[in-house]
Amino acid sequence: MPLLEVNGITAGYGDSEILRDVSMTVEAGEIVSIIGPNGAGKSTLMKSVFGLLHPKTGSIRFDGHDITHREPYQIVELGMCYVPQVANVFTELTVEENLEMGAFLLREASLEDRKARIYDLFPRLKERRRQRAGKMSGGERQMVAMGAALMLDPKLVLMDEPSAGLSPVMVSMIFERIAEINRNDGPAMLIVEQNAKLSLAMSSRGYVLAAGENRFEGTGPGLLNDPEVGRLYLGG
Ligand SMILES: Nc1ncnc2c1ncn2[C@@H]1O[C@H](COP(=O)(O)OP(=O)(O)O)[C@@H](O)[C@H]1O
Ligand SMILES: [Mg+2]
Repeated sequence: MPLLEVNGITAGYGDSEILRDVSMTVEAGEIVSIIGPNGAGKSTLMKSVFGLLHPKTGSIRFDGHDITHREPYQIVELGMCYVPQVANVFTELTVEENLEMGAFLLREASLEDRKARIYDLFPRLKERRRQRAGKMSGGERQMVAMGAALMLDPKLVLMDEPSAGLSPVMVSMIFERIAEINRNDGPAMLIVEQNAKLSLAMSSRGYVLAAGENRFEGTGPGLLNDPEVGRLYLGG
């Protein structure tokens, strides 16, 4: 059974239908990319998976539970974390306080261990742990957001455009960290990315979403080498 299973969901905002009959899966430990043009519904799919929107039809299962009608706080308790596309840190809190917010469910003892692991992964955050997150660069904020999501030791992390607005050096650094987090029994990752080639290159599988519908799916290399996907969605 896949870790995450989205079965034919239809979802949108009010009366507007954005996703139509969208299906996808993520296996435990896998990195899966969702790519597609602006406005395709990628963020809407992430929000639906995390319970911020409830599908009108179809169902979503996570780790053996039907989460179609559950709320985000219940979904977090099952082991899923979400790093939104924007506004993903508490700007008035320090780096360390942001990490602690990510782990409000944890007991004190495990808190220190988890923080130490995040600081090993992102030494920059350790140096700046007393700094307010709002004073940090885009790349550093992205590290804070990823660190906070990892504090709960999730089974699945949803990341919506982790490289958006970052310099090329920061983009490579964030992608390297994502691969590193995933290695050695790390969590599965479901990643929405505009940097489609880079993202597919580190993914075992991917999906192309266009106009709210499944358009292509395949292995990372399969999609990267598909001439039609290349021409339409990877810039030739
Ligand atoms: N909160 C919202 N209320 C109404 N429409 C929205 C909202 N968020 C997104 N949309 C619309 O849903 C469509 C898909 O948006 P989105 O899921 O953000 O696409 P993507 O992430 O692929 O760029 C767009 O037409 C967008 O205008
Ligand atoms: Mg989006």
